[in-house]
Amino acid sequence: MMASIRRWKRSLNLLNLLLGVLLVYPEGGVALELLPSASEVLLNSNSNFTVVCSGWSRVTWRLPQDHQLNGVFVDSQGSSSLLKFVNVTWRNSGRYTCEEEASTQSRDINVFIPGQDPDEWFVPVGPGVVMKEAEEGTIPCVVSDPRLNVSLLERPGRMPVDGLTYEPGRGFTGRLNDTSYMCSAARGAEERQSQVYYVFSVIVPEVMEVDLSVSSSVLKQGEVLTVNCTVKDTHMVFFSWDFPRRQEIEPLTDFLPNRIRSFVNITAATVADSGVYVCTVQETKEDRKVEKNITVTVLGWYTTDTQQTHNTDTQQKHNRQ
Ligand SMILES: *[C@@H]1O[C@H](CO)[C@@H](O)[C@H](O)[C@H]1NC(C)=O
Ligand SMILES: *[C@@H]1O[C@H](CO)[C@@H](O)[C@H](O)[C@H]1NC(C)=O
Ligand SMILES: *[C@@H]1O[C@H](CO)[C@@H](O)[C@H](O)[C@H]1NC(C)=O
Ligand SMILES: *[C@@H]1O[C@H](CO)[C@@H](O)[C@H](O)[C@H]1NC(C)=O
Ligand SMILES: *[C@@H]1O[C@H](CO)[C@@H](O)[C@H](O)[C@H]1NC(C)=O
Ligand SMILES: *[C@@H]1O[C@H](CO)[C@@H](O)[C@H](O)[C@H]1NC(C)=O
Ligand SMILES: *[C@@H]1O[C@H](CO)[C@@H](O)[C@H](O)[C@H]1NC(C)=O
Repeated sequence: MMASIRRWKRSLNLLNLLLGVLLVYPEGGVALELLPSASEVLLNSNSNFTVVCSGWSRVTWRLPQDHQLNGVFVDSQGSSSLLKFVNVTWRNSGRYTCEEEASTQSRDINVFIPGQDPDEWFVPVGPGVVMKEAEEGTIPCVVSDPRLNVSLLERPGRMPVDGLTYEPGRGFTGRLNDTSYMCSAARGAEERQSQVYYVFSVIVPEVMEVDLSVSSSVLKQGEVLTVNCTVKDTHMVFFSWDFPRRQEIEPLTDFLPNRIRSFVNITAATVADSGVYVCTVQETKEDRKVEKNITVTVLGWYTTDTQQTHNTDTQQKHNRQ
């Protein structure tokens, strides 16, 4: 039941994805449209600005701050969404992202309202705690003026850190250590330091998603029996199988976009194919292993006779071992 719901959901996602791809790329063009179509705008304090995002299904704006600031308005109506700034201040600077849920497409616009005073250089966009789930993370020291020279310092000691990518509307992105950092911005001889950012690694146990499905768990002799063992978004994996006619039938492996499928294809099932199908998936990189099983029943035409033959077959196999 769960598996079938998951499969159904996945099909739905795939359908959405396909629809998204078909609709969003009518001529292989760009997905979402921004008007004005700029990735960066520089505004004067107290001015107004409006940008419209249009897609093919529901779109909405993600703001740089967790909460909506004064002077920023979002008006979403179906496949278009309006982002309006009224009487802007340096605090409204940052990256605004238009997202289309169905197609998982997004477009960014970096809005800067340069602050005059050095106190108005670093834009407060959130707490000074960076939870990173992978090796890479982002120190969100966003500035109101993209022309500032910004550098990253590791604390304590204020050691300059090189090799990370800086985007004024986002911050420094790259491999971070579990320590604390701060940013420094300079314009000519003037310099200002940001707040302190504390980096913590959060360990998220990655689960390997294995789906074992069968064309039909109860079938008649002569019908096609297919058992799929599918792993999603994975690195290299090994499949191992156990099922009644394992010695005679070799499972096949198929590499599909974002998943790997190992499957057993039996053209004409016999009663001897009744039993438990066990698929074990082992990841080669990390030492993770997931085992799933499913029970198949093949109904014979001459139930008693065939059952007997089957039993004898199994007996013989046992004797041989
Ligand atoms: C910005 O919009 C507000 C409200 O609509 C208006 O009162 C103000 O005059 C506008 N400012 C500019 C600079 O156009
Ligand atoms: C715009 O903001 C300034 C101060 O930031 C304020 O004095 C002015 O009245 C505001 N104008 C409007 C149209 O809201
Ligand atoms: C992380 O720590 C290593 C070893 O101390 C150092 O070489 C590296 O520069 C640090 N990276 C960052 C981004 O702080
Ligand atoms: C930023 O740094 C570069 C090189 O160090 C320098 O040429 C440039 O003038 C600086 N810009 C500002 C705004 O301080
Ligand atoms: C097995 O996977 C293939 C390819 O994704 C699919 O066409 C087929 O319907 C699947 N069969 C079952 C029983 O899930
Ligand atoms: C499974 O077996 C059927 C019947 O022999 C065949 O038509 C089909 O192509 C096979 N499927 C795969 C994916 O090998
Ligand atoms: C099949 O899976 C169930 C639940 O995951 C488990 O309890 C059972 O032992 C498994 N059977 C075999 C034959 O692996």
